[in-house]
Amino acid sequence: MKQLSLDRRIQTLFPVALASLLVLGTARLVLDHLKSNHSRDFRLYSRPRSHEKHKLPVVISPEDRVAEGCNVFEGKWVWDNVSYPLYTEESCPFLVKQVTCQRNGRPDSFYKNWRWQPNECNLPRFDPLKLLQMLRGKRLMFVGDSVQRAQFESMVCLVQSVIPVGKKSLQRVPPMKIFKIEEFDASIEYYWAPFIVESNSDHATNHTVLKRSVKLDSIAKHRKEWEGVDILVFESYVWWMYKPLINATYGSPDDVKEYNVTTAYRLALETWANWMDSKLNPHTQKVFFMSMSPTHLWSWEWKPGSDGNCFNESHPIQGPFWGTGSNLEIMEILHDTLQQLKFNVTLLNITQLSEFRKDAHTTIYGERKGKLLTKEQRSDPNNFADCIHWCLPGVPDTWNEILYAYLLKNYQNFL
Ligand SMILES: *[C@@H]1O[C@H](CO)[C@@H](O)[C@H](O)[C@H]1NC(C)=O
Ligand SMILES: *[C@@H]1O[C@H](CO)[C@@H](O)[C@H](O)[C@H]1NC(C)=O
Ligand SMILES: *[C@@H]1O[C@H](CO)[C@@H](O)[C@H](O)[C@H]1NC(C)=O
Ligand SMILES: *[C@@H]1O[C@H](CO)[C@@H](O)[C@H](O)[C@H]1NC(C)=O
Ligand SMILES: *[C@@H]1O[C@H](CO)[C@@H](O)[C@H](O)[C@H]1NC(C)=O
Ligand SMILES: *[C@@H]1O[C@H](CO)[C@@H](O)[C@H](O)[C@H]1NC(C)=O
Ligand SMILES: *[C@@H]1O[C@H](CO)[C@@H](O)[C@H](O)[C@H]1NC(C)=O
Ligand SMILES: *[C@@H]1O[C@H](CO)[C@@H](O)[C@H](O)[C@H]1NC(C)=O
Repeated sequence: MKQLSLDRRIQTLFPVALASLLVLGTARLVLDHLKSNHSRDFRLYSRPRSHEKHKLPVVISPEDRVAEGCNVFEGKWVWDNVSYPLYTEESCPFLVKQVTCQRNGRPDSFYKNWRWQPNECNLPRFDPLKLLQMLRGKRLMFVGDSVQRAQFESMVCLVQSVIPVGKKSLQRVPPMKIFKIEEFDASIEYYWAPFIVESNSDHATNHTVLKRSVKLDSIAKHRKEWEGVDILVFESYVWWMYKPLINATYGSPDDVKEYNVTTAYRLALETWANWMDSKLNPHTQKVFFMSMSPTHLWSWEWKPGSDGNCFNESHPIQGPFWGTGSNLEIMEILHDTLQQLKFNVTLLNITQLSEFRKDAHTTIYGERKGKLLTKEQRSDPNNFADCIHWCLPGVPDTWNEILYAYLLKNYQNFL
């Protein structure tokens, strides 16, 4: 009985039309191939350590430390059009079209002006220079799907304004994107791996959500690129949730079977956990995991009796709210896996705070299969609004402010 209702929940999570949102499509495919050029030749990790001698201690003030015992994930969104947004679409040249809602025609802009206010403390003010000082000589990498890519882009936009032109660059090295900050010998990177473990959707642009097949016990292809990274930020959810069953292999690579999504998710996380316990160094490497990013596909969940989605929403939800799209069994699996790990992974539980933000998705002002929507598609938001991805500037900036707060909290100067 219980399983049945779970299956129905997963079943209804992604209407068929949404499959196309998770896929970049041929337009983007061609574009990316052009842009990536001969990027395989691009030498990435030959890091001269010449900047080491300029290393200065990071000055951390009392306001930079989140009060002991404060849960930054409990709080509310407050109107703040003085400090927010932290950057603009115009000031950040690194945003992709998928997230620049205003430029794509979104008429309202309230969604950019909300600040997350924890109940019992304040988040430190985001200081790009301080973050770069903490990242000096280091690599920060975001791993996951297109939601995680937005968090990567947000981070790039949050820091890029303090770096002079010519001292920063964004390179595509599929399945990665790499933002390098020369002066700090640092990089902020993104790695496409929608299931974390290996799958037939690992190609950065040519991938499908309809014919997914996941290798639940394989991570070798990816982990090589992750093991040298100083700070890793993982995320994986929405690609699992297309149907209640998922084709996967475990053991024999030729033996494809249908697994319950929950079983498959648990096995994949175990593979990931075992890798970390055996290969990462807890003294020099830091790992974060972002909890699921919520979707707002059904307006009846916050507005009983209505029949729409997140389109035309201009304000956050006030008061308690948890949408059915954020699967609690998956949350429990995540919780259990992290508990059992020897390696210390910090869960950034951003689901609840993002649940309130029904107003902040790209809706009809994003892309589908790599293209902006046509006029006809825009006139049919019930079928074409994207209620998975977020506009930038927007909610992913807050996730990064929280990540920044944790990095500050754990930072120690080695003088
Ligand atoms: C691709 O590489 C060639 C030579 O390496 C260069 O001349 C050309 O400008 C590059 N194209 C793009 C789009 O980066
Ligand atoms: C900021 O918000 C306040 C209160 O809603 C409003 O009166 C003011 O005009 C806004 N300022 C700007 C610059 O939008
Ligand atoms: C995309 O991948 C599929 C299956 O892996 C392959 O058959 C197809 O040729 C690929 N398309 C392009 C444009 O590379
Ligand atoms: C698994 O793969 C088979 C064969 O391609 C297909 O018929 C089936 O629908 C797939 N199952 C799921 C859950 O996608
Ligand atoms: C899926 O879950 C149901 C109920 O828990 C169980 O009976 C079934 O064996 C599971 N299937 C697989 C492939 O794990
Ligand atoms: C959006 O909502 C407002 C009321 O909040 C309504 O007046 C307007 O007609 C709606 N627009 C569309 C296109 O549904
Ligand atoms: C994340 O927070 C929600 C409530 O905000 C809670 O229900 C859930 O258990 C938390 N997840 C984990 C893995 O601790
Ligand atoms: C793990 O992280 C927590 C919170 O940052 C810290 O209190 C704890 O001491 C760490 N444990 C180990 C074994 O490093």
